[in-house]
Amino acid sequence: MNLFSPLKCGSLTLPNRVIMAPLTRARTPSTVPGKLQELYYKQRASAGLIITEATNISPTGTGYVYTPGIYSDEQEAGWKGVCEAIHAAGGRVAMQLWHVGRVSHELVQPNGAQPVAPSAIRGEGAQAFVEFEDGTAGRTPASTPRALETSEIGDIVADYRKAAIRAVRAGCDMVELHAANAYLLHQFMATGTNLRSDQYGGSVVNRARIVLEVVDAIGKAVGYERIGIRIAPFSEIFGLTDEESGEMALYLADQLSRRKVAYLHINEPDWQGKDIHLTPEFRKSVREAFDGALLYCGHYDAARAEALIADQLADAVAFGRPFIANPDLPERMRVSAPLNDSNPETYYGEGPLGYTDYPALIKA
Ligand SMILES: Cc1cc2nc3c(=O)[nH]c(=O)nc-3n(C[C@H](O)[C@H](O)[C@H](O)COP(=O)(O)O)c2cc1C
Repeated sequence: MNLFSPLKCGSLTLPNRVIMAPLTRARTPSTVPGKLQELYYKQRASAGLIITEATNISPTGTGYVYTPGIYSDEQEAGWKGVCEAIHAAGGRVAMQLWHVGRVSHELVQPNGAQPVAPSAIRGEGAQAFVEFEDGTAGRTPASTPRALETSEIGDIVADYRKAAIRAVRAGCDMVELHAANAYLLHQFMATGTNLRSDQYGGSVVNRARIVLEVVDAIGKAVGYERIGIRIAPFSEIFGLTDEESGEMALYLADQLSRRKVAYLHINEPDWQGKDIHLTPEFRKSVREAFDGALLYCGHYDAARAEALIADQLADAVAFGRPFIANPDLPERMRVSAPLNDSNPETYYGEGPLGYTDYPALIKA
């Protein structure tokens, strides 16, 4: 078993285990992906699976301007073009579904409303990306959110369901629930961000409830085999803290396994430079709890990815920054070719620079 053995994932068979991680690139001012996105994703179609950039399920779920959505007909049509381009190039695609929760600001919210979250606690160090009143754009500290009423949670679950239906109608093979990186679903899961006293707060079971309601709503609408989910246990970003991160991950792994979702994708806590590492025991427990395809992501190179797969602790590995700079990453890894370095200054921004202009290997 290596990075180039095929992998069953839901009803797909991925031709390799080099997965493209979800990467926000902030190049859709209209929120509708177009020709530039078609080219960018098509260039990366040799990935075992492309996971798209995080895509807003609703205006309220948005925290960053220039990111795409999947709640309007125009957005769905834009994604249809992207999916067709990926499929025509022989690829497969999962759309990452996103609600930022408290990592937002009144300037990005419909009618300047307060962002919503499980509890009214501001994310220390969390930044939204907004257009200011003078027309310039930039980062700004996230606002203090208001706590969602219990009666509003069903609407959020419905927004996820509608977004998944649109994604599949646009041609996505799967959807990935973004339950990582301190956004809404993660805020519900973590003890430090969820102080609720209703059925969505308190115990691990209660804090995971919204996630499983979303999984069930999407599973019933488009099939559990089309669902992947991304979590980030032990990650402490945007001021999120969690006393029961490991317990939560293992509870979810078990519940998701029972529901036969296609894959579980773990974003490791050290990718942003913090010195927190997953233990071998934790990895073994996740493996035992989850029967579907298991993906890890965060600072991998081909050798470390191969080792994790050879140890049977993962089925595939997702690569983020390497895929920004290397559109043909699987081929480069296969032939041990050198990799292009990615330029952080053009991760977000405008146009093709640092987006569609990284070269592929020149074939002899
Ligand atoms: C520019 C950039 C944008 C990102 N956007 C997302 C995103 O939209 N959704 C997400 O779950 N993670 C996102 N991440 C995290 C990556 O998916 C990945 O977990 C991280 O880069 C670690 O993998 P790497 O070391 O292979 O780059 C982003 C990372 C970068 C560098």
